[in-house]
Amino acid sequence: MLLRADQVSKSYRKPGRWLKPEQTTVLKGVSLTIQQGECVGLVGESGSGKSTLGRLLMGIEKPDSGTVYFRNHLVNSTGYQQVRQQMSVVFQDYGTSVNRRYRVKSILEEPLKIANKMASKDFQSHNIRLLETVGLSEKFMDRYPHELSGGQLQRVCIARAIANQPDLVILDEAISSLDVTIQLQILDLLVKLRKEMKLSYFFITHDLLAVTYLCDRVLFMKEGEIIEEVGDMKALDQVAHPYARTLLEAAMKVTGVTWNNHIQKIS
Ligand SMILES: Nc1ncnc2c1ncn2[C@@H]1O[C@H](COP(=O)(O)OP(=O)(O)OP(=O)(O)O)[C@@H](O)[C@H]1O
Ligand SMILES: [Mg+2]
Repeated sequence: MLLRADQVSKSYRKPGRWLKPEQTTVLKGVSLTIQQGECVGLVGESGSGKSTLGRLLMGIEKPDSGTVYFRNHLVNSTGYQQVRQQMSVVFQDYGTSVNRRYRVKSILEEPLKIANKMASKDFQSHNIRLLETVGLSEKFMDRYPHELSGGQLQRVCIARAIANQPDLVILDEAISSLDVTIQLQILDLLVKLRKEMKLSYFFITHDLLAVTYLCDRVLFMKEGEIIEEVGDMKALDQVAHPYARTLLEAAMKVTGVTWNNHIQKIS
């Protein structure tokens, strides 16, 4: 087992209520597991708590109750730094998730410097390898983020996320703000990396079709709870919960494809 969350709950104080504080419960006892090499999708409407769950799994934030274990280490305990290097995250907003004043090479070197496992003389060759792995060439090394397209910059973010050879990458809407053809290219890249590096993904998205491309299993989230889980992508049209059905039908409507056609295409 790579990751295990047990009964994780989280509340936030409602904004603007400092005199009479009130809490909103965002996650209500969420449990999940991710096996080594597995890709688990998480879909749900905006505000259902997906990103919050992602942050708790990473240890960026602490749950109010419940536990997260990563390879038998309690996330958020003393083993935190060690765990952090085996997990990384790619966000939707590639524009703000990098330092605009850093060149690509410095962006790629950030996690290496934190991990402190590689001699700086090896950074250059490592950077070249990383860029090639994500489909970019050496010539991008000295560019600044504003000199890259959205798709290129997201590739750099993915390269940064795999720089320390993590076991798990959390992809929080990582393809959502790219246009459709670029989304497909990035999805293909993620499929390739997963195979080559034996990565596990926790893929947070609104896009059920992308889930069927990439994931082995999908969890449906509504108002802070996991309301359904589907273990076989080909059986996704069998989802029972009305909310999951609504998401499925919406995905079909947007793309205008029938589910059977789509499944044939991906199998
Ligand atoms: N730091 C915070 N302080 C207060 N409320 C927060 C905080 N972070 C998240 N929330 C609230 O928690 C709820 C869930 O937010 P979250 O970002 O996890 O949703 P999401 O499912 O990722 O949504 P989206 O699909 O729009 O990204 C929202 O109502 C949000 O306003
Ligand atoms: Mg989110």
